[in-house]
Amino acid sequence: MLNIGVLVSGRGSNLQAIIDGIEKGRIDARIKLVISDNPDAFAIERCKNHNIPYRIVERRNFPSKVAFEEEMANLLREENVELVVLAGFMRILSKSFLRHFPDRVINIHPSLIPAFQGLHAQRQAVEFGAKFSGCTVHIVDESVDGGPVIVQAVVPLLPEDTEESLSERILKFEHRVLPQTVQWFAEGRVKVEGRKVLVEGAKYGTLPVNPELEKF
Ligand code: GRF
Repeated sequence: MLNIGVLVSGRGSNLQAIIDGIEKGRIDARIKLVISDNPDAFAIERCKNHNIPYRIVERRNFPSKVAFEEEMANLLREENVELVVLAGFMRILSKSFLRHFPDRVINIHPSLIPAFQGLHAQRQAVEFGAKFSGCTVHIVDESVDGGPVIVQAVVPLLPEDTEESLSERILKFEHRVLPQTVQWFAEGRVKVEGRKVLVEGAKYGTLPVNPELEKF
């Protein structure tokens, strides 16, 4: 059974997907602690509803970013957390936090990185006129949404798409790839070598094209 910690800042729908996966017996992990940096995050309600321990750790209560991150790392380590999942956590973590959990901090980002990193990834994709976007689960390093990729899900962009409609389409896949990734870690199948991540025993090789090809 893998001990996980989840960091959140808002709605917490990805946290919910992990909770559901655990409750349905599809994820062999337990959530030892949820940390929110936002006292008003709806994610906290989800913790209360499912009896999951949570702590609110606000940046403004600490003299420095390092002190804030040390507090979070200590809380997670006290709970013997082995994997830290960023699920809509809106802050960039520095080396001082990451060194406590080498290659064991993951994040979900709503684009196919390295495209559309940073904030409003779905809006960026719509405005760019991309024909595909999607979501990525990656190992967190000190870059912003740039660490080694574990899994990506591709969704098409339609001519009539708005930021909202695309976000919704991507979110459905976020709620699949993130729990799946946690389970891959629980099974000990994720191997990280530099930038390359291999999920042992996984099937690779799907090819999407958009618009669909006709004569070719
Ligand atoms: C998701 O779109 C995630 O990819 C991004 O922030 C959003 C969080 O949503 N990092 P939620 O709080 O999990 O509902």
